[in-house]
Amino acid sequence: MAHQPHHHHHCTSETDHAPLAELLDLDAEVLHKHLANLVGWVDELTGGTAPRRILDLGCGTGTGTFALLQHFERAEAVAVDGDPQMLRHLSGKARALGLADRISTVQADLDADWPAVGTVDLVWASASLHHMADPDRTLREVFAALRPGGLLLAIEIDSFPRFLPDDLGFGRPGLEARAHAAMDARRAVDMPHLGSDWGPRLTRNGFTVEAERRFAIDLKPPLPASAGRYAQASLQRIRGGFDGELAADDLAALDTLLSSESPAGLLHRDDLTVRAARTAWAARRPE
Ligand SMILES: C[S@@+](CC[C@H](N)C(=O)[O-])C[C@H]1O[C@@H](n2cnc3c(N)ncnc32)[C@H](O)[C@@H]1O
Repeated sequence: MAHQPHHHHHCTSETDHAPLAELLDLDAEVLHKHLANLVGWVDELTGGTAPRRILDLGCGTGTGTFALLQHFERAEAVAVDGDPQMLRHLSGKARALGLADRISTVQADLDADWPAVGTVDLVWASASLHHMADPDRTLREVFAALRPGGLLLAIEIDSFPRFLPDDLGFGRPGLEARAHAAMDARRAVDMPHLGSDWGPRLTRNGFTVEAERRFAIDLKPPLPASAGRYAQASLQRIRGGFDGELAADDLAALDTLLSSESPAGLLHRDDLTVRAARTAWAARRPE
């Protein structure tokens, strides 16, 4: 973040919060079934004892917080993020959903000091652990914050969503595959913990890994208009980082796709799909 110079990655700067926030909200909207599956799984894992205090680590716009509070109606949540604008966005949504009195937001850089969140029954960390400079340290803090028997749900993205057919009707076939390859190369440098195997990490930090589940998402047309906006927000985000990694004709094709006006653009296509994969680890602090 701009005001914390030691923060090494660029996921959240003060200036580009809005596009990421929009992307996270669209992710929640388009992948709502996946989210419901995850929450249903948490329900099974927590058995008869519904969680009362929940910690959402790297909460973003609150996707996990809201889904969990709507399901566990007697629970309260602490939503932690390093980006104050994410937390403001979350608070606005919380008021609109009537959930504000069950949520407290805490701004904290999790690479610095662990915030005073007290003891919790459930920690939800979705697409946030790979951002940590020292994930093992964060996992030790999570362990200490959980009550004995408490549960951590760590959700990570195996592959960023893909939307496009190989042949777009213009440009060279295979654009999305080339764009993902370029993005993966960049991310391997920026975020070395992305795609790491969290099972052994959880075990060596004291957790009992109860299950690891892979969720394959494969939405086919016809899709709602939000899927087009989700594709646009996703590809816009990866488009921003390409300087020199993609050929000029590929960049031009991407710009056609991203254009809201072009009839061949993402907002107007009827051939979009949403293909993605996520893995979730359910890890318990032993009694
Ligand atoms: C990819 S987003 C995921 C948001 C949300 N959990 C979700 O699944 O929609 C990652 C979030 O982690 C936050 N984050 C990244 N590094 C952080 C750090 N060191 N301390 C606190 N929050 C951090 C970012 O601000 C961002 O909101």
